[in-house]
Amino acid sequence: MEVKTKQPLLSDHVDMRLVAVDADDAISDRNAIVQLDPDHPGFRDREYRKHQVWKTIWTALEPAHRKHACAEYLASLRRLSFDPDRIPQLREVNEKVQAISGFRLEPVAGLVQPRVFLENLANGVFLCTQYIRHHSTPLYTPEPDVVHEIVGHGVTLASERLAKLNRLFGEAVKRTAAPDALERLSRVYWFTIEFGALREGESVKAYGTGLLSSAGEMKEMQDAELRPLDLEAASRQQYDPTHFQPVLYCAESFDGMYQRLRDYLVKWR
Ligand SMILES: [Fe+2]
Repeated sequence: MEVKTKQPLLSDHVDMRLVAVDADDAISDRNAIVQLDPDHPGFRDREYRKHQVWKTIWTALEPAHRKHACAEYLASLRRLSFDPDRIPQLREVNEKVQAISGFRLEPVAGLVQPRVFLENLANGVFLCTQYIRHHSTPLYTPEPDVVHEIVGHGVTLASERLAKLNRLFGEAVKRTAAPDALERLSRVYWFTIEFGALREGESVKAYGTGLLSSAGEMKEMQDAELRPLDLEAASRQQYDPTHFQPVLYCAESFDGMYQRLRDYLVKWR
């Protein structure tokens, strides 16, 4: 199976490059990634293949979470109590998440503009892809897939405080007209909600969804250049979404991160 990467694919919800990509090309390219050999034994059984992919991912993620996930995430994970053998349905995830934070994950077909994605957060709606990585590469996906959405965002939205920060991002974006200001907010989202790290005692732990949905990213986090959490600096920091992140912003604690990011977003004009 050839993974095609000639087009710059959407690398995450807030990836600004999306704006410049022709949507039709991006979608046809995306479909190429999930093209299957019609003789494949699993061709007629999508659900079976999904569960197998989920099981493989979970086997890799469980020990990585124990080692690298922050306490707030682990508590949320316990609240959602996933079955390691079966990919959860969005409906099941939503029932639990909604009861905790009022958020729901809403599936969308195709790609969403960063502004639309971010503004929906203000209303407690997380627009989420339905695409799932190819079963031949269970630990690799060239763009965020439903596993990232559920294991990353679904779980963090089952934390009242992380859900609150997502809402505040949405509200800040609604007050933002200038494209360069939107880019800066998107980068803050990237370096916190997607790739945030924090200290728990002597250890560096992940609270960012891009880290928490990938065992590889969590391992690489230990070798990243950790900078003190400076949101103004993060808003101007460029990143390459196609590689492991070499620079991360690391908060002194979950509480410290929460207060600083909340204040930054509330004051955002
Ligand atoms: Fe994400």
